[in-house]
Formats: sequence, C-alpha cells, structure tokens
Amino acid sequence: MKIREKWVNEKNPYLFFFLFFTFFCIILRADERDTWHQPDKVMDVVGVKPGMIIGEVGAGHGYFTFHLSRRVGESGKIYANDIASRALASLRRKCESEGITNIETIVGEVEDPLLPKGILDMVFIVNAFHDLAKPVELLNNLVPSLKPDAPVVIIDRDPTKFRDSAGHFLTEEEILEKIEQSDFELDRIETFLTKHNIYVIRVGKEMQKINEEGKCGIKISGNKREMI
Ligand SMILES: C[S@@+](CC[C@H](N)C(=O)[O-])C[C@H]1O[C@@H](n2cnc3c(N)ncnc32)[C@H](O)[C@@H]1O
Repeated sequence: MKIREKWVNEKNPYLFFFLFFTFFCIILRADERDTWHQPDKVMDVVGVKPGMIIGEVGAGHGYFTFHLSRRVGESGKIYANDIASRALASLRRKCESEGITNIETIVGEVEDPLLPKGILDMVFIVNAFHDLAKPVELLNNLVPSLKPDAPVVIIDRDPTKFRDSAGHFLTEEEILEKIEQSDFELDRIETFLTKHNIYVIRVGKEMQKINEEGKCGIKISGNKREMI
C-alpha cells in the first residue's frame, strides 16, 4: 500500500504526462484523418444533405459514420453495417455516451450487408472496398436497398498517390473492373483527396428498370441469383 502511494505520488507527473500524451495522440489522429479524408468536402461533393437516409458498408468503429450522422441530422438516419460485431459494439457505445440517436448498426453477411430495402438515398463504402471478399456480389445485393438513381460512393486508397509496402489496396483498374462486373455503372471518379479516390456509381439502367418494375431485387449468393 505504502509502495503504491509512493509510486502514485512520485510518478504523478509522469502519469499525468502519459495520459495527456495519449489523449493528444487520439485527437491528433482523428484530426489527421480529417486532413486527408476531408469528410465535409466529400459530403458536399456527393450531395449528402440533412434528412437523408444513408447506409454505410464496412463502417468499422465509425470514423465516417459520425460525420454522416452530424450532416443528416436528427431528421435523417445512418445504417452502419459491418461483419465485425465488436467494431459495431464500440460504435454503439460511442452513440450511447454522446447521445447520438440517428445511427443504427447492422451486422451483415460477407456477400450481403442486409441493409433495409427501398429507402436509402445513398450508400458509402469508406476504406473497406479493398477488404471485401465478394465485392461484386455485395454491390449487387445493395440494389434493392437503394431508391431510384441513388448513388453508391466508394472511397478507397489509390496506390499511385502514396507508397504502401504492405500492398493492401486495389488499383483503380481493379476497382473499375469489379464495378464493371456488377449491376452498377461508373458515374464519375473524384480525385481531389491526397490518398484516396472517390468512385460514384449508380445502378445500371437495365437493372434499375427490373428493380423498379418488379418492386423486387436480386439476392446474389455464390453463383445463384434469386428474386426477392
Ligand atoms: C479498414 S476497415 C475501415 C473501417 C471504417 N470504414 C474506417 O474508415 O475507419 C474495413 C472494414 O470493413 C469491414 N468489412 C470487411 N468485409 C466486409 C463485408 N463483407 N461486409 C461489411 N464489412 C466488411 C471490416 O470488418 C472492417 O471493419
């Protein structure tokens, strides 16, 4: 007990410095991400507005989710999906501690994010597209969730903009190839971010028609396509 008291008393300045430094690093890291992700500019450019209902695939601990939540406001809603339930649990804890009520988490399947059908104004996939095991199937399973002409916004690292020795990325060509194999068409690529590119894609005309006329979608599972 005496030793503990002595340690706390003597090491107090170090303890204080350590806690201050940790806190400073957390703030700095969040700010640093904002400098290269420019979330406000990204949301302006793709048209995120108050009241929108937005899905996010691979939300993780919610870096982008909370920016979206603030922008859509109380009249809007964010469905934050991931296959990692622990990451979503930490996202929910932050919502509870900060009183955020417009985010709902959804644990999805590898091929299907299980987002609600027919109500989404937009879907974001931030820093997660290169991690998807079945990107084409997952994109196709988004179709029934999107309102007509609603975009999917993929923000992913561009290996030509910085060195990544781990090779943990997809090239622009590879991303475009996946999009081409899916039911989506490329609308445009925004290149103003320093490390990432933004791919804005929309459901191709043919699939859009099927989806609207049939008021149904197609669930992809392996090689199987099933009307739902
Ligand atoms: C690099 S993290 C990015 C997290 C967050 N978007 C961010 O920018 O901080 C990639 C995330 O994608 C998730 N992920 C991987 N495959 C997925 C899938 N098939 N469906 C949904 N999420 C997936 C991972 O669990 C992880 O949380």
